[in-house]
Amino acid sequence: MQLQLPASLNIQDFLDNYWQKRPLLMRNALQNHDFSLSPDELAGLACEEDVESRMVLRHDQNEWELRHGPFDEQAFSRLPDQNWTLLVQDVDKYLPEAAELLRAFHFIPSWRFDDVMISYAVPGGSVGPHTDTYDVFLVQARGRRRWQIGNRIGNPALLPDLPIRILAEFEAEQEWLLEAGDVLYLPPGVAHWGIGEDGDCMTWSVGLRAPSTAEMLGSYTQYLLDQVPEHDHYRDPSLSPQESPARILPQACSAASDALDRWLLDPDLRQRWFGCFNTELKEHLFIEPRTETVEISRIPELFRQHRWQRHPFSRWAWQEGSGSSDLYLFVCGELFELPGNCRSKLQQLCDRHPLNQDLLRDADPAFLRVLARLINENWLEPCDD
Ligand code: SIN
Ligand code: CO
Repeated sequence: MQLQLPASLNIQDFLDNYWQKRPLLMRNALQNHDFSLSPDELAGLACEEDVESRMVLRHDQNEWELRHGPFDEQAFSRLPDQNWTLLVQDVDKYLPEAAELLRAFHFIPSWRFDDVMISYAVPGGSVGPHTDTYDVFLVQARGRRRWQIGNRIGNPALLPDLPIRILAEFEAEQEWLLEAGDVLYLPPGVAHWGIGEDGDCMTWSVGLRAPSTAEMLGSYTQYLLDQVPEHDHYRDPSLSPQESPARILPQACSAASDALDRWLLDPDLRQRWFGCFNTELKEHLFIEPRTETVEISRIPELFRQHRWQRHPFSRWAWQEGSGSSDLYLFVCGELFELPGNCRSKLQQLCDRHPLNQDLLRDADPAFLRVLARLINENWLEPCDD
């Protein structure tokens, strides 16, 4: 199943003219997807311990309440008929139909996706007018929701003292009523407000990852701290006597910058870090390793017995290596190095669903060694079928 763009647009047009640039409403873009998940099933997920969920209630013009899950049945029995919404994060990790939705957006690198969040709203229910720092595809799955969008704002003023981020000012520039199967794409920073209309409604939001530069800097420097050897120290072998001993000469600053740049600007380290960083899991999405270890020799038998899939929590990416190896595979924040002849296998491993015995045909022993690790970590698991 693929996203059906408006007839006048192909994927490259969408990427050139809308992606990260301007909103696009796509009517009937996902007519054939399985959106049968019911409000009760969503509520059930929101009652589970490990699932991140929240409820937003609007009591008055500027009075918003935020409740955090997990919820229990009672929490749902005492709600008003109007003005509340339930939101459940990371549904793609728990329900195959939500993971399947991500495949409709195959033209965006898979490591850019964060999650599918599903919201349920009664009439008047919403999270208020806000901006997000990431791109989002708002997919109407059930019922109708009125979306208003405003300007693109960099650093918006928010209403004070509220548990959620609500814009202090919101002026709708465009407004649409979305029906099941319609999709609204919003680039980062566009003010938006989606309110449940008549009856109840469900929206599946495909959210992208957009780490802040501060977050990337923090992560990269942390990564470097593990790489830089302890014996790497500040040195100044070409010292001359100074008129003022307290003065810091430009060449002293340069010596320090050179020492930092050697690490900060190393292209191979940056490449390795970027792959690890983008495949790291959120802390609560922990994947338990297998208890019984699998040896390489058992892999063919295991692939005869089952079809395999990437664990729904796991994150995968690969790139051409620039250092000691031709290919780098990144899984759940870890790097695996592979020779160039594994390229097509690597691609299958990261992109294909499900994985079958094709993956093993003429595979290099280095690839099989990596497969064994992936199976033992449970990052690859048998399909349920
Ligand atoms: C919602 O589904 O109510 C909120 C989605 C969003 O605004 O990003
Ligand atoms: Co939003």
